Amino acid sequence: MRILVIGSGAREHAIVRALALTPAGEPTGNTLFAAPGNPGIGELAERTSVDIMDPVAVAALAVELGVDLTVIGPEAPLVAGVADGVRDAGIPCFGPSINAAQLEGSKSFAKEIMTAAGVPTAAALTVRTAAALPAALDQCGAPYVVKDDGLAAGKGVVVTEDRAAALAHGERILAAGGAVVVEEYLDGPEVSLFCVTDGTTVVPLAPAQDFKRVGEGDKGPNTGGMGAYSPLPWSPPGLVDEVLATVARPTVAEMAKRGIPFQGLLYCGLALTAKGVRVVEFNVRFGDPETQVVLARLRSPLAELLMAAARGELADHPALEWSDDAAVVVVIAAENYPARPVTGTAIEGVHRASQVPGGYVLQAGTDLDKGGRLVSAGGRVLSVVGLGPTLDEAQATAYLGVARVHLAGSHFRSDIAAATSRGLRGGTPPA
Ligand code: AMP
Ligand code: GLY
Repeated sequence: MRILVIGSGAREHAIVRALALTPAGEPTGNTLFAAPGNPGIGELAERTSVDIMDPVAVAALAVELGVDLTVIGPEAPLVAGVADGVRDAGIPCFGPSINAAQLEGSKSFAKEIMTAAGVPTAAALTVRTAAALPAALDQCGAPYVVKDDGLAAGKGVVVTEDRAAALAHGERILAAGGAVVVEEYLDGPEVSLFCVTDGTTVVPLAPAQDFKRVGEGDKGPNTGGMGAYSPLPWSPPGLVDEVLATVARPTVAEMAKRGIPFQGLLYCGLALTAKGVRVVEFNVRFGDPETQVVLARLRSPLAELLMAAARGELADHPALEWSDDAAVVVVIAAENYPARPVTGTAIEGVHRASQVPGGYVLQAGTDLDKGGRLVSAGGRVLSVVGLGPTLDEAQATAYLGVARVHLAGSHFRSDIAAATSRGLRGGTPPA
């Protein structure tokens, strides 16, 4: 298959890797293109440049390359209608339409769908004026959860006991012309469950847990994600079936009923609360860094799965096969991430880190300088993956790889998938 992957992060590197190589590390025979990709992706795919936010330009590129399938990694092009552009050009595309992508593009739309479909989630109020904000905060109560209704690249949510800070965050969003969603605080560990769907049939992938806070012990500000692991030995038996029955299938059915079928990846961000499973958020694409561990464990060919979803043929797709191995990913972040990451710093040891048995390195914020040296070019720079028969072994392998990388000023969490961290919140305790 000829496949174009849109995006440039470690998530896209993981997707390209799974499309390019079998679990045994042999070539799959797929021909891969990436726009824009990164130097690591460039070892497996031909890189090409395009404005990834422009549906017409991406469609023209897909036609020019003669691809059989386009896979869109990040949410922003999906919310901008890039999948529609590609499909209109007659090329199958893995990723939802502009309208279906509103499940991530608008938190209030997602709430409306969940309410209509009877999906359990936090009670929420949408606020459009500063005058209405205090009453909404008092109605939902502390800890306060205040969200930007629209896309905010992981920076739109504040969870805090501090009413003044909650108010200030809401006022900032409103002042910038946005709407605010205030919601009930959900307690309990978080789980990410990715569901591949063609608009009708829903196929769950393996659950994973993400570490969102920058610091050890879930301290400090939220990030895009500092690490993840899969499987989740502590999660209740039957969790995946329950989420399919109470969350994913009803959501996909409600979207279809409204004439906005959802095709692509429905990312169910869940909290396992004392009162049961609740949806924290939906995303409309693979999560980063969870994809790095989920695809590390997938044994079935990814290209066939994504193509079946794009073509509406998931009902005929064979059951997915999974490795018994556990996988852990540790993110190496640039100095000063998540505030204002320092870029242009030399990265050494990636090759040596990839030689750790059972491990490999995926690239995200990387680039080549004029001399062809690998340098940092973003906040989350590398994703170091470790596989092993147990989570402890996978974790040890990932950290062996991390120790071989040198990036001045960089930081990582040393408690990703640590036995003491498993099944804890994995997310955002009140500040
Ligand atoms: P979101 O952008 O909606 O995923 O929120 C980012 C993170 O904020 C989530 O992964 C949670 O850790 C936290 N969060 C969001 N909503 C809630 C909530 N209702 N209760 C507690 N934590 C939340
Ligand atoms: N890991 C969180 C996200 O991808 O949104």
